[in-house]
Amino acid sequence: MRAVDAFRAAFGHDPEGAWHAPGRVNLIGEHTDYNDGFVLPFAVPWGVTAAVGRRDDDTITLLSLQAAGADGKTTPQVIKEYERAEGWARYVVGVFWALRQAGHAVRGADLVIDGDVPPGAGLSSSAALEVAVAMALNDLYDLGLSRLDLALLSQKAENDFVGMPCGIMDQAASALSQEGHALFMDCRSLATRAVPLDLAAEGLQILIIDTGVHHELADGQYARRRRDCESAAKRLGVEALRDVTDLAAALSTLDGDERKRVQHVVTENHRVQALIGLLRAGAVREIGALLNASHLSLRDQYEVSCPELDVAVEAAVRGGARGARMTGGGFGGSAIALVAADRVQRVREEIVRAYGQRGWAAPRFLPAAPAAGARRLD
Ligand code: GLA
Repeated sequence: MRAVDAFRAAFGHDPEGAWHAPGRVNLIGEHTDYNDGFVLPFAVPWGVTAAVGRRDDDTITLLSLQAAGADGKTTPQVIKEYERAEGWARYVVGVFWALRQAGHAVRGADLVIDGDVPPGAGLSSSAALEVAVAMALNDLYDLGLSRLDLALLSQKAENDFVGMPCGIMDQAASALSQEGHALFMDCRSLATRAVPLDLAAEGLQILIIDTGVHHELADGQYARRRRDCESAAKRLGVEALRDVTDLAAALSTLDGDERKRVQHVVTENHRVQALIGLLRAGAVREIGALLNASHLSLRDQYEVSCPELDVAVEAAVRGGARGARMTGGGFGGSAIALVAADRVQRVREEIVRAYGQRGWAAPRFLPAAPAAGARRLD
């Protein structure tokens, strides 16, 4: 294993173990997690592997195989003051910080990180990194934390140490997914259920379309959407938008952005439940319409799409996909399309053509079947 070999080369001894945590795509339930709503993501076959060994001081020594210089060599970062960690290292250091905040006596460690989540594709490489490190420390220090605890801790690292106010979906998908299943989560009770998703049996495939773009406004806009939802909930006198039962009445008391955000969140929660109903009924071929409706709602009501995502979704459907939508936070990253296996080529060609017409570089296509959640490798 590359991470283990690199660990030996860098530190002169074996790591105590290696842990892998996957990235995710979200089938449906977008921008619902921080509204106490429902989500249905699944783990992708790409993720982060961490080879780890404990230290008997508080220093964190970090080496990423993706941060190699032109000569292919990397120098480990030595982090003694956690607050001074920068860039991607903050996701790792944040997990140590969150564990200590929760009263766990973890000390420093040597870590080698190896990742194959396509960078910038919006497939949650940061959640994968956090969960891999959290699971490693849980095992090495025998902390006895559950997978859900590890997801919550990783979210805390991202919220309070990195400073990104994300919900629980990405970390939960990485920690709790099962192969061949999507993960249904009620983000209020935090109850989860593995939902069988055998697309191949129906001759279908989820095609990930990585637009290759990342619009810089993503983080600021994410925080703004959260604020819109919180102020709308307050105005409506509910704890969270999850609690809106009469949409028409709610909309009649709101206007502007808040009105649009509420329209999206409430209908998106219904779409998650409808999609689960279809899966339970064995009607996976019918879920495409819900994917399309989710995309329109994210584009027009939640306003988190962008031209590259819209064109990918429209071209996918034109090319014969049963449905398509942006996935993840938005403003770039990836879209997903549900496609019959014998139409994949046509769908890809249609998207490449539509991108070419606009002078955009072709997106990257990644077929993805639901993969397993985080695990120890050796
Ligand atoms: C990002 C966040 C998640 C979730 C999605 C939108 O991926 O990390 O918590 O809010 O956006 O559904």
